[in-house]
Amino acid sequence: MIETQRLTLRPPILSDDESVLEYGSQGETVKYLQWKPLQSLQEAQDFVNRAMREWQNLDRTRSWVLELKNPVVTIGALRATASQEGLEIGFVVNAKYHRQGYASEAIRAVVSRARLDGLSRISAICDAQNYASQRFLERNCFKAVRRLRRRLVHPALGAKPRDCILYQYMGS
Ligand SMILES: CC(C)(COP(=O)(O)OP(=O)(O)OC[C@H]1O[C@@H](n2cnc3c(N)ncnc32)[C@H](O)[C@@H]1OP(=O)(O)O)[C@@H](O)C(=O)NCCC(=O)NCCS
Repeated sequence: MIETQRLTLRPPILSDDESVLEYGSQGETVKYLQWKPLQSLQEAQDFVNRAMREWQNLDRTRSWVLELKNPVVTIGALRATASQEGLEIGFVVNAKYHRQGYASEAIRAVVSRARLDGLSRISAICDAQNYASQRFLERNCFKAVRRLRRRLVHPALGAKPRDCILYQYMGS
């Protein structure tokens, strides 16, 4: 569990399903993610179950739920994959809560925790046309280091792998 001023970052639980469905079904929010918009509560439950299993199995990829403290509500997730090279992160916030600094608060906390854990290389891969996230990363001390040709499939935009940008955390 990681605490910030306004958020608790915690492992997923079954009752996250409705909140996950809410942001997971927002076409614009999930457009540049590696999954299609969710269409039913069952799909959201399957999604949450998979995320719970990652924690149970101590997988190297885990999703932290972003839970607002007041009122207590699940507003998004931060996905982190640990490897020998460091930590790769991805993030999503319900559109209702955009531009209120929540993702920045979460990313700062995860970066601090990663550095305490000795992971000095922290990166994010973002679609080359995902300008909002690029701006978000740059505002949070990440720098674009390389274009990755045909790197990730974003199903909402088609089946072909798309160009992405590799961002590296440069420290504050
Ligand atoms: C990227 C995302 C997580 C940002 O969440 P957020 O909580 O709104 O971000 P913050 O409020 O902390 O934003 C911090 C800064 O990032 C930049 N930013 C965030 N969203 C932006 C947007 N839509 N357009 C331009 N800049 C944006 C701004 O500089 C912002 O500061 P400001 O509001 O003071 O101008 C959110 O837009 C999202 O969920 N996007 C869809 C999912 C996605 O594409 N994830 C990336 C996968 S790599």
